[in-house]
Amino acid sequence: MKKKLLIIGASGHGKVVADIALKMNKWQSIAFLDDDKSIKSSMGLKVIGTSDDVFAHIDEYEIFVGIGNNPTRQRIHEVLETFGASIPVLIHPNAVIGEQVEVGFGTVVMAGVVINCCTSIGKGCIINTGSTVDHDNKIKDFVHISPGVHLAGTVKVGKGTWLGIGSVISNNLNITRGCKVGAGSVVVKDITEPGVYVGVPVRRV
Ligand SMILES: CC(C)(COP(=O)(O)OP(=O)(O)OC[C@H]1O[C@@H](n2cnc3c(N)ncnc32)[C@H](O)[C@@H]1OP(=O)(O)O)[C@@H](O)C(=O)NCCC(=O)NCCS
Repeated sequence: MKKKLLIIGASGHGKVVADIALKMNKWQSIAFLDDDKSIKSSMGLKVIGTSDDVFAHIDEYEIFVGIGNNPTRQRIHEVLETFGASIPVLIHPNAVIGEQVEVGFGTVVMAGVVINCCTSIGKGCIINTGSTVDHDNKIKDFVHISPGVHLAGTVKVGKGTWLGIGSVISNNLNITRGCKVGAGSVVVKDITEPGVYVGVPVRRV
């Protein structure tokens, strides 16, 4: 394990990521990269360059993509993987993780999250504040589960899907890749086509 952590993205999501990394107390120093050159520091941590500079730091730092947008996070994560970067998993100390739970690298699990037993979470995911992911879920890579989302047991969520804040997914359902589920929406049937889904129960828009 490297002693330094570099977070790509110093704005809202990146700051929460940094907060979790600080609380984990694993790294001697933490810094940011951000493409907005006017940002010199964030959370009291230095911004030491733009995302183009990442390759100069790949041997010295563990690197984490702190960007909320799913396609952008996926693109940068995959470049880092290709170049052999060391990408950690970040788990807030106040998250509850059940037995036989797998969490992929580049995923952040935020404060107040509960992930129940036998669930697998892919790489590059965001399991955001206060969400619950119940038993036997299969969450694929680059999914964002927003704050306060609840997934019942045995749910599958496809690659790159975004579940909006406070949405609820009933048990034994499959949501395919590349979907957006709106804030406060409720999913009670499988979603088999990528698209934007909103409402209670959801309809495609
Ligand atoms: C679902 C969402 C992505 C759609 O955004 P969009 O593609 O820009 O869609 P629009 O805002 O143009 O809305 C399209 C229609 O869906 C409706 N709609 C949008 N979001 C809705 C929601 N959450 N619940 C119910 N209806 C919704 C709009 O009222 C609009 O209806 P209309 O055509 O009858 O006027 C967005 O509204 C949303 O809910 N985002 C989640 C935000 C979130 O979770 N943030 C937390 C990040 S950590």
